[in-house]
Amino acid sequence: MSIENKTIIVTGGGSGIGLGIAQRFDQEGANVTICGRTESKLKDAVATMSERAAYKVVDVSDEESVKEFIQSFESIDVLCTCAGGGWFGPVESVPMSDVRRLLDTRFYGQFMCVHYAVPLMKKGSNIIFCSGIADKKGLPLFSAGNAIDGALNAVAKGLAVELADRDIRVNAVSPGLIQTNISNNLTQEQMMEFGALTIAQIPMKRPGQPSEVAQAAYFLATSTYVNGQIVEVDGGWTA
Ligand SMILES: NC(=O)c1ccc[n+]([C@@H]2O[C@H](COP(=O)([O-])OP(=O)(O)OC[C@H]3O[C@@H](n4cnc5c(N)ncnc54)[C@H](OP(=O)(O)O)[C@@H]3O)[C@@H](O)[C@H]2O)c1
Repeated sequence: MSIENKTIIVTGGGSGIGLGIAQRFDQEGANVTICGRTESKLKDAVATMSERAAYKVVDVSDEESVKEFIQSFESIDVLCTCAGGGWFGPVESVPMSDVRRLLDTRFYGQFMCVHYAVPLMKKGSNIIFCSGIADKKGLPLFSAGNAIDGALNAVAKGLAVELADRDIRVNAVSPGLIQTNISNNLTQEQMMEFGALTIAQIPMKRPGQPSEVAQAAYFLATSTYVNGQIVEVDGGWTA
């Protein structure tokens, strides 16, 4: 299946993994719209793509914002939900408000986009969640992230079965350690330390690049018989 001229939404497409995926879909000829909360970031991101690329300022944790954005499309061929971030720290010190905010963005934010997009998706369209490998590895100091990754993977599988008779496929890309400026609560120094400790556990001994997650997302977007799969892009971390 080609994605040329297809209507594709990438949430969180202003940076990191979402941007890598948006750029790849754009290179393949799709009409890509990215969203995020920071207009300057979205503008810079769109400037790296073709003239077909567009952006919209949307907060995926805000239902009205999501509804208005998604319903502005006549139809959607691929929805790829990457908006999110992370929080690291001991379970006893994570502020509960931060846990809720993380769930609002990374879980409900992805779920709400799907909720409003499915009625606009025709036969042959597909959804790609962006989860993560943390539910498989049991990452310490990442308790809410572990739960969110597992929840997203479970939703992807359930929806794959639920929507199969409408010929809407649902899969997830599940990144390991990817080199981005992911927004989180760690200092630069702590991030470097976390990266070094993590890389030591990864068989390929390096972080992945957003373009490498994009390769997997492109595979999922175009593989017409791949449904309900969680594709780990992690250098063998979960092998
Ligand atoms: N990097 C990794 O190693 C890794 C591994 C596994 C999973 N992940 C997951 O992959 C996703 C992308 O991560 P990344 O590394 O690419 O980080 P990133 O560069 O921080 O990308 C996240 C994007 O989401 C947007 N965003 C955040 N909150 C939002 C909201 N409420 N509404 C709309 N947009 C929002 C951000 O833009 P604004 O702040 O401007 O809104 C940003 O462009 C995240 O969910 C992350 O948890 C990352």
